[in-house]
Amino acid sequence: MPARRDFEERYFEDPHFAPGLKGGDEVRGYGYFPAYFPIVQAQLAALAELAEAETMLDAGCGKGALAEYARLSLRLTVTGLDYSAYAVRQARRRAGGERTVRGDIAALPFRAAGFDLVWCNGALQYLDADGARAALVELARVARRAVFVSSIAAFHERGDWARHDPLTRLYLRPGQWEGMARACGLDAIALPFEGESAALIGGGELHGGIAALALAFAERALDYQRRLGALDRVPPGLDAFRRRARNR
Ligand SMILES: C[S@@+](CC[C@H](N)C(=O)[O-])C[C@H]1O[C@@H](n2cnc3c(N)ncnc32)[C@H](O)[C@@H]1O
Repeated sequence: MPARRDFEERYFEDPHFAPGLKGGDEVRGYGYFPAYFPIVQAQLAALAELAEAETMLDAGCGKGALAEYARLSLRLTVTGLDYSAYAVRQARRRAGGERTVRGDIAALPFRAAGFDLVWCNGALQYLDADGARAALVELARVARRAVFVSSIAAFHERGDWARHDPLTRLYLRPGQWEGMARACGLDAIALPFEGESAALIGGGELHGGIAALALAFAERALDYQRRLGALDRVPPGLDAFRRRARNR
């Protein structure tokens, strides 16, 4: 269908096309603000180490830049999944990219507990609430140890973003993602990363609850972000997060 193909190519390549963050300023093919890539690198490196991950699913992998980084720099075996045929074609051209499939996060074509770590960055905001609930359950179903979900920060709903981005449907605070996951029967905790709405969810073989892993993950990720020069202040919600996680 040419119209859809054109839409997808523009979504990923045209910096002036909503949501307007793709294209010219890509870092290693990662279509966001250049300063965002080290933040995500630090998060992924920290969680992969703590979860002792060897395998990972990148759900909503886009053009596969982060999956490639995880394969080459973290030595993970990474499967990518995306709904966009254009993105899947691009992702398959990268190192290890033949492990990329087309599919829907809300109906994953994988067996239960098939991946040590499941990563879902910047995709769930495009679903409606029912779709997001189905996606959270699916992501947790295929995860052995942990699921990281990160979505657009809720405050963007009141700013320029919402006016220029007709695609985003869910602007939720981290605590709302946690609440949605817990209402689906999942073990989840909101994370204190500033500028995004992130939460960690326990996989089927994570013993002892998600709070201890989340505490260690947040500290290590922020430390790595600082070392990479991507953190210029302590997130305002960090102390409250620490108190809450310790009391869980
Ligand atoms: C903002 S991009 C993020 C890409 C990548 N995760 C990253 O961090 O750069 C959102 C991605 O989610 C994908 N996506 C949206 N809804 C999806 C769904 N229901 N199933 C699979 N992928 C989906 C889009 O095609 C797009 O590649």
